[in-house]
Amino acid sequence: MLNSLKDIIKPGSEEEKLADQIDVSRLPQHIAVIMDGNGRWAKKKKLPRIEGHRAGTQSVQEVVEACARIGIKYLTLYAFSKENWKRPKKEVGTLWKLLEEYLKREDKELMKNDLKLKVIGQRREIPDRVRKELERVENLTQNNHRLTIVLALNYGGRAEILDAVKKILEGKKFNSSSLTENQFSQFLYTANTPDPDLLIRTSGELRVSNFLLWQIAYSEIWITQEYWPDFRRKHVLQALVDYQKRERRFGDVQSSS
Ligand code: IPE
Ligand code: IPE
Ligand code: MG
Repeated sequence: MLNSLKDIIKPGSEEEKLADQIDVSRLPQHIAVIMDGNGRWAKKKKLPRIEGHRAGTQSVQEVVEACARIGIKYLTLYAFSKENWKRPKKEVGTLWKLLEEYLKREDKELMKNDLKLKVIGQRREIPDRVRKELERVENLTQNNHRLTIVLALNYGGRAEILDAVKKILEGKKFNSSSLTENQFSQFLYTANTPDPDLLIRTSGELRVSNFLLWQIAYSEIWITQEYWPDFRRKHVLQALVDYQKRERRFGDVQSSS
């Protein structure tokens, strides 16, 4: 059983049963999440879409806490894609505002719980006020070590790969015969972050929507029908139990044969 998690789950609950099945020696180091379905959650409740986003911040808090207690080292959350600018201006504005409020409210909690915040994506298009807040919290939490929360903001997987290629060409340090995959990875926004072991997508969509295209090459994928605002600690545990039943072969043959 995961010690620190035990403190917050009810004895005899479904969560406890799930937690008891988890082998702490084989936890994923990095979980990445496509937080999807806020709009449909709101629609189902006859609320404006933005209420789905607001409710989704509650799920973020719960999942962050669960991952920290379980002992996950990296949690990447896809919060705003480069393509999400296509949405109505009002929705986009409120999404950034919710993020700004979240940062102002949660900075002390991040410090208290030894959590580091890191942003990936093209920062320059992020509204100034939000970017400043993000950078303030990144600086504040830079020496924290328990769990790194990577927020993907104005993020696109193709843009990330193209940005890496541009940096490499500008640096003029590599030629086509010397560049390795490991060296290339160092030019991605995720340099020095291990690839996700587990990729979770909520709301049942079976696509990657331009998320971490390079890094998810061998990630295990877990999809749930739950909309993001309904996603809870229990679902993290379900995903972990399922993840540990899989055999990751990385192109090799079965370990027992
Ligand atoms: C995910 O929920 C949040 C963001 C993409 C910002 P959606 O807003 O995509 O919700 P659906 O997919 O329309 O239900
Ligand atoms: C992916 O969700 C982006 C985020 C979760 C931030 P979308 O709702 O934008 O993806 P599509 O449009 O359904 O592929
Ligand atoms: Mg969506």
